Amino acid sequence: MSLDTDADTEPDAAKLASLLRWYAEMGVDCAVSEEPHDRFAESAAAVKTVAVKQAPPEPAAMPASAPRAAPPRQATPMESAALAAGARTLDELRAALEGFEGCSLKRTASRLVFEDGARGARIMLVGEAPGGDEDKQGKPFVGRAGQLLDRMLAAIGLDRQHVYIANVVPWRPPGNRAPTLQETAICLPFIHRQIALSNPDILVCLGASATQTLLGVKEGITRARGRWYDFSVEGENGPKTIRALATLHPAYLLRTPIAKRNAWADMRALKKAVEGT
Ligand code: URA
Repeated sequence: MSLDTDADTEPDAAKLASLLRWYAEMGVDCAVSEEPHDRFAESAAAVKTVAVKQAPPEPAAMPASAPRAAPPRQATPMESAALAAGARTLDELRAALEGFEGCSLKRTASRLVFEDGARGARIMLVGEAPGGDEDKQGKPFVGRAGQLLDRMLAAIGLDRQHVYIANVVPWRPPGNRAPTLQETAICLPFIHRQIALSNPDILVCLGASATQTLLGVKEGITRARGRWYDFSVEGENGPKTIRALATLHPAYLLRTPIAKRNAWADMRALKKAVEGT
């Protein structure tokens, strides 16, 4: 899109607004930095840094020229696991995440999206990562997908007071892209701890990402959904197993309304499990 500007004319405000709207529609809806970033190179450099740290020192190895500016430091999953394990309550876990600088998503997100619903509820729902509406409000599942989730819960007589909601990744990835494997691995110990501390009877994984990351399921969500899995978590008195149901993500249901019949079957299975336990 051309702004038709030259040295003597100011860019037209309406055209600028239209350009910004076009960027937003294309998914470019937040300013990350002045320069483009090669995230693949940054991830590779971070992995190399960890490998070098773990290798024995080589006294003669000196860089020949000045090193290039280091990419922002990403934590290792071991570091986030140590931090998460130190949290004894959900408030402490939230505070640990607020102070955590080891995931680059935090730098582009507006805020942490930690939880919604009732802590300690019998059912805990986990999605992938916050979107734009969640990033603005600081609560998971408050956009269109969240409104559909509310209707799905209402269909089996539940609302947000009956469930506890979080995401595998608590910061919005820029432009709503999927979190990378490295970002997910860094955040995983935190959601494990959040599940352990809220201590639900039933875990519901919303969509492929939560199902594959939390339950270690390899197959796609259309095959994995509707089935029950065991989720192991470190409880107060040692390891414990929670029943976990995989179901379709409400954002997928918005795009694929025909799949709602499967989601409805999953909601009925959830209701039956709640009533039976
Ligand atoms: N999608 C998710 O996975 N989580 C949210 O919080 C919102 C949309």
